[in-house]
Amino acid sequence: MTPTLEKEIIKLPSDQDISGRTFGAEEIRAVTEVLQSGVLITTKGKYGKLLEKEFAEKLGVKYAYACNSGSAAVHVAVAAINPNPGDEIVTTSVTDMGALTPIIFQGAIPVFADVDPKTLNVTAETIEAVLSERTKAIIVTHLFGNPCEMKAIMELADSRNIPVIEDTAQSFLAKCDGKYAGTIGKIGAFSFQQGKQMTTGEGGIVVTNDDDLARRMYLFINKAWGYGDANPDHYFASLNYRMTELQAAVSYEQLKKLDYSVAQRQKMAALLDEKIADIDGIESYKPAENSTMTYWKFCLRVDDAKIEDGSVGLAKALKVYDVASAPRYVVKPAYKCMIFRDQNTFGDSQYPFNLARPEAVDYNDARFRGTIKGLHDVLVLPINEKYTEQHIEFLADSIREAVEATRK
Ligand SMILES: Cc1ncc(COP(=O)(O)O)c(C=O)c1O
Repeated sequence: MTPTLEKEIIKLPSDQDISGRTFGAEEIRAVTEVLQSGVLITTKGKYGKLLEKEFAEKLGVKYAYACNSGSAAVHVAVAAINPNPGDEIVTTSVTDMGALTPIIFQGAIPVFADVDPKTLNVTAETIEAVLSERTKAIIVTHLFGNPCEMKAIMELADSRNIPVIEDTAQSFLAKCDGKYAGTIGKIGAFSFQQGKQMTTGEGGIVVTNDDDLARRMYLFINKAWGYGDANPDHYFASLNYRMTELQAAVSYEQLKKLDYSVAQRQKMAALLDEKIADIDGIESYKPAENSTMTYWKFCLRVDDAKIEDGSVGLAKALKVYDVASAPRYVVKPAYKCMIFRDQNTFGDSQYPFNLARPEAVDYNDARFRGTIKGLHDVLVLPINEKYTEQHIEFLADSIREAVEATRK
């Protein structure tokens, strides 16, 4: 059944343009200042350094280094860990591809852990199931602004002496047991891509408290050139992953607005939660005990026993109200993508997969029941800091009507 339009359509603010973003006079002033200075490179300008200092201070960590994307941030983190070819890095079957390809570029094997179908996050149990003698690191992705259960994950990782990288691209200022996501493991990696809680279009940053990892991360971003050293050299294979001063100026100003953006998302999400709590057949994602969510997106689990065609059916019904939603998030688990399925890497070498243990690249769906179920059920709804109570009311009404129209 198609929902009937009985109310005025309200256009929801979009994080893909200014309607859902907080750019204003501050960013314009900072970018203009950079352009007028003529210094667009962060090795010479002030904004890259300011951003790194303020970001580290905000998160309460010793080091932060800016780079030019979230993918670069993950690459920098993996390179700092310095795996040998064929070493394994445990990661998640549900994440952005930018969190996965860096592992391959560093010659390591991504080993996918299954996820909790209720959150699409990895857990200590799913990680433990795929650890091996060759595990060099664990990367957790805190999806949708909802942190993984880090206490249990850190207990496991620490007991095996395995470093944890936290991909926090979607979860700025989310907290676990009072600590910011991204500061609990050895390294945190963030993305400033267009739709994130703070943005500069494309950009990223890595954080750590570890002196040696910090040094390697800094070098990896800077072609491994030992700036300021007595006898500088290009010490190892790396890239130029530097952000420009223009990006840094925007991120520096965005960082000042981050508390507001996160608080506003949390306030509006709480309101939406309240308004849809009684709707049978859907359930919103909730943070674990002692955790807080910062709502990159607002996710629902849709029960296909109650709703015709589940998340896909509900998404279609919501379109009538001009509400854009993404059923199944990334659509398919990472291991089903051609890069992994066909091992499309460097020439026809299949490197580094040609070094893998067969179990490490066993992509049988039976090993990923949480992933299959979680992706089947999830409906990803938009939210951002420009949402007002009026937007939430419209969204909640639209969800209620769409659910009733698709109820079995
Ligand atoms: C969880 C996660 N990791 C990594 C990335 C890659 O970041 P970027 O798009 O900035 O390269 C993204 C996407 O933005 C992401 O959502």
